[in-house]
Amino acid sequence: MNAGLRPIRSYVLRQGRVSPAQQRAFETLWPRWGLSYAPGPLSPAEWTSLFGREAPLVLEIGFGMGEGTVAVARGLPHINFVAVDVHMPGIGSLLKQIGEAGLENVRVMRHDAVDVVEHMIAPGTLDGVHIFFPDPWPKARHHKRRLIQPAFAELLASRLKPGGTLHLATDWEDYAIQMLSVLRAVPALRNTVADYAPRPDYRPLTKFEQRGLRLGHGVWDLVFRKL
Ligand SMILES: C[S@@+](CC[C@H](N)C(=O)[O-])C[C@H]1O[C@@H](n2cnc3c(N)ncnc32)[C@H](O)[C@@H]1O
Repeated sequence: MNAGLRPIRSYVLRQGRVSPAQQRAFETLWPRWGLSYAPGPLSPAEWTSLFGREAPLVLEIGFGMGEGTVAVARGLPHINFVAVDVHMPGIGSLLKQIGEAGLENVRVMRHDAVDVVEHMIAPGTLDGVHIFFPDPWPKARHHKRRLIQPAFAELLASRLKPGGTLHLATDWEDYAIQMLSVLRAVPALRNTVADYAPRPDYRPLTKFEQRGLRLGHGVWDLVFRKL
């Protein structure tokens, strides 16, 4: 990792209980849908061959249990998705859902997305980046662990193609404010709206989010475009 990027990780690797179904999904489906980390950028031809077709490429960082990933990938079948997380139960859960749905347009990675973006994705490769509800790290002394920081935002922008979009969502107002100020400071990015964007149709409303909205909690979407 270069000096500009945080040596501090945005997650804590918890053991987490992997259910027998998640473990089985991992063993049987990883060979078909998993993508192992390698510290060198994939060429456009390698991305095409990985998916068996040429299509716009969107990176999702931090998919949790993967319900959102599956909904988005089903709704946007013309897009190739690379979904990255570090959390083993979630990897098993997403693979299981992909297998059940027979989704051809998703590949799953188990690795720190900061390394993936820095080392596996060449500049100007991505048509989009989705980061939905990244860990909020609410305590002030943990804010340094938040994923959306100036150096990482610059790195993400460099990996987007001109016209590509960076879509973030959070339900923590102070993190939304931080996201807005961090993204606004990246010269290669432009906000698509004045500040927070309406939720794009492709991002499904999760149960958790519906409940939060009923309780009067806010959700903030940010959609920036690469110049
Ligand atoms: C709060 S969860 C949100 C999950 C999901 N996007 C949702 O909306 O329900 C954040 C996820 O980001 C993952 N995460 C955090 N830092 C990461 C990193 N550097 N690389 C990959 N995944 C990361 C965590 O493991 C966790 O699953």
